[in-house]
Amino acid sequence: MSEAFNALKERDLHSICNTYARYPLAISKAQGVHLYDSEGKEYVDLLAGIAVSNLGHANQEILQALVEQWNTVDHVSNLFHQEWQIELAEQLLGTCDADKVFFCNSGAEANEAALKLARRYMHTVAGRDAHEIITLDGSFHGRTLATLTATGQAKVKEGFDPLPEGFKTVPFMDMDALRDAISDKTAAIMVELIQGERGVRPLSQGYVDELVALCKEKQILLIVDEVQTGLGRTGKYWAHQHYGITPDIFTTAKPLANGLPMGAMFAREDIAKAFSFGSHGTTFGGGPIVCAVAKKVLEIMERDQICEHAAKTGEYALSLFADIQKRHPEKVAEVRGLGLIMAVELSFPGQEIWEKLLEAGFICNLTQGNILRLLPPLIIDKTELERFAKELEALLA
Ligand SMILES: Cc1ncc(COP(=O)(O)O)c(C=O)c1O
Repeated sequence: MSEAFNALKERDLHSICNTYARYPLAISKAQGVHLYDSEGKEYVDLLAGIAVSNLGHANQEILQALVEQWNTVDHVSNLFHQEWQIELAEQLLGTCDADKVFFCNSGAEANEAALKLARRYMHTVAGRDAHEIITLDGSFHGRTLATLTATGQAKVKEGFDPLPEGFKTVPFMDMDALRDAISDKTAAIMVELIQGERGVRPLSQGYVDELVALCKEKQILLIVDEVQTGLGRTGKYWAHQHYGITPDIFTTAKPLANGLPMGAMFAREDIAKAFSFGSHGTTFGGGPIVCAVAKKVLEIMERDQICEHAAKTGEYALSLFADIQKRHPEKVAEVRGLGLIMAVELSFPGQEIWEKLLEAGFICNLTQGNILRLLPPLIIDKTELERFAKELEALLA
């Protein structure tokens, strides 16, 4: 580490709440699918700011949309009708089967909105005294008190007691346990169709089909958290479209405005109507700047067929990783993914491999201690992924 980097790290430790174990790196420039550290070293970005910068960094079309909007109307609040927000809502609703959208500023806020809407729907529309939310082990839904309570990981809850009431977590993909957990107090079941933080673990089609049927039978809402999987990451606009299902409520956030903070919650009309004037809100959510940027993101996604590109590129990358697994079955336990949310699960602790990949100029995420999680910008091309696969195999060998 250089002296300059160490000095920066010291200042970071002194001035910022220490909630992140940071990578040994400070990024000083980001361009396309590349990041550059303070010494000018280039890295291939296989993380995209944790599934955020889907159209790469420093996209000039997006910058232009942002500047134009800034010079037209920058911020006025949700007290006004805002045409950019309405246009974006219409365009997003055109990509899915939902009827209404609520814009906010992050994934946790989108999930918080979903949880509030589910409870309010039960209380004010369905007329049922049902408030419980069931989630799955291993899930991640956010860091607010409600969403960390919903999250199926003990470590995010430590030290925050007392947690809000009315949440239950059941074992991953255990249908009997889920059935047992349901009562007349259950309002909703919330799931990620592919658990991202847990290391890209998909729910099986069979489980999801049963889940949908169960929700229907018991008149429980199904909330799908697409904060990480949404907007093209899996090769379709929404991961739930791979499963052929229509959630009652779903959420997204990360890539909506390609790096500006934005979240959204989608719902069917009969559920959305449980929100009325004043029942929920946000000062910044759906503001002109983020909406203009998100509109540009959607325009580019359509024009450049980004979903199709992500599907093809992801399939190709997964085939490369599967080949590595075949050649090194004792070192690679599993390869998983859909589109460009991918994981290479190692059979041994992965810290050293991760560090060597970083040294070789590849930034990815190590999760659960042995899973290399890859969430590259959706515009990445095959050559960068081939280079990564080659390096990974060399390190494994
Ligand atoms: C599936 C999922 N839900 C919710 C969140 C929380 O989103 P945010 O960090 O924007 O609040 C995340 C963040 O990683 C996520 O992956």
